[in-house]
Amino acid sequence: MTTDRRPRVVPADAAGIAEAAALLRAGDIVAFPTETVYGLGGNALDPMAMARIYEAKGRPAHNPLIVHLPDAAAARCLAATWPEPAERLGRRWWPGPLTLVLPRAACVPDIVTAGGGTVALRVPAHPAAQALLRAAGVPLAAPSANRSGEVSPTTAAHVARGLAGRIPLVLDGGATDVGIESTVLDLSGPMPVLLRPGMISRTELEREIGPVEVPGRTRLHDEPRPSPGMLERHYAPRAPLHLLDAEQDAARLIRAVRARGGRVGAVTLGGPPPDADEVIPLPADADRYARGLYGALHRLDELGVALILAVAPPPDARWDAVRDRLRRAAHPSP
Ligand code: TXA
Ligand code: MG
Repeated sequence: MTTDRRPRVVPADAAGIAEAAALLRAGDIVAFPTETVYGLGGNALDPMAMARIYEAKGRPAHNPLIVHLPDAAAARCLAATWPEPAERLGRRWWPGPLTLVLPRAACVPDIVTAGGGTVALRVPAHPAAQALLRAAGVPLAAPSANRSGEVSPTTAAHVARGLAGRIPLVLDGGATDVGIESTVLDLSGPMPVLLRPGMISRTELEREIGPVEVPGRTRLHDEPRPSPGMLERHYAPRAPLHLLDAEQDAARLIRAVRARGGRVGAVTLGGPPPDADEVIPLPADADRYARGLYGALHRLDELGVALILAVAPPPDARWDAVRDRLRRAAHPSP
């Protein structure tokens, strides 16, 4: 049964890590910070713990989980093969905000991979995530610590609010640094495929391993689904989000919402803010914008605005991941 009781939020110090690790070893689930967003972790080798994660998030059973490991050697144990690109990328970016999809080893339970033949692996850089992985001594499957379809959490408070009554404990490691989810790269097929853009860009990956494919935006229904999660309603605030291109007049949209008694929120991008009721300025720098974006969306939802306006980012590749998340928030249905 779910209640509104908020989970306990404890600092990610030695005592907090020890308590969280004990819960994890006992088969429970715990939220913890990573450098990207907060994750909801459970022992990846324990199918009962995995069932708890799906239940707490309301996540559809066909959407597989990312398994977190303390280092590349541990990650390698969960993959059936370890191709050269995995070796190179692991050396270059682990620990860090990169997830690699590889053929799964036999020890990985079906529920982690949603029955598929591949497993997503990541070595997080956040010191609290590292300490927790080492203290728990088990691989941790950890999706973002939010209800399915909602905006990922970048603070412990976001988690406590979003998963109230559903989890026992949140380790508080402050606001996350990257701010959006890891880059997901599929290395299980003949060509590397970018399943989810992130702050490690396609260009950076290609510099390391050569050409990386990007799946087409439209996909026929009977085509294989390389990343089930990317087809879900995703990363969406409660209020509808509208992307403004540079020339668009925000005034008309704002008037329409106010005429119905609603208030308008906006996230800006360096420039002068639209004349909204609640304006959260974000910097015109892709890294710093990504760091602040989800916090701004959570805040605007808390303020109860009826519409969120966001200025569309510039077309260059540095903004690919941010543009992807804004597009998903603006058009939440696939
Ligand atoms: O930054 C992150 O990756 C965060 C932190 C907590 O590590 N985690 C995260 O997990 O964003 P989640 O579950 O919210 O998103 C995982 C994405 C989903 O789109 C899922 O479909 C995809 O990775 N994925 C997981 N396993 C996969 C697999 N075997 N093949 C293809 N895609 C997979
Ligand atoms: Mg997620």
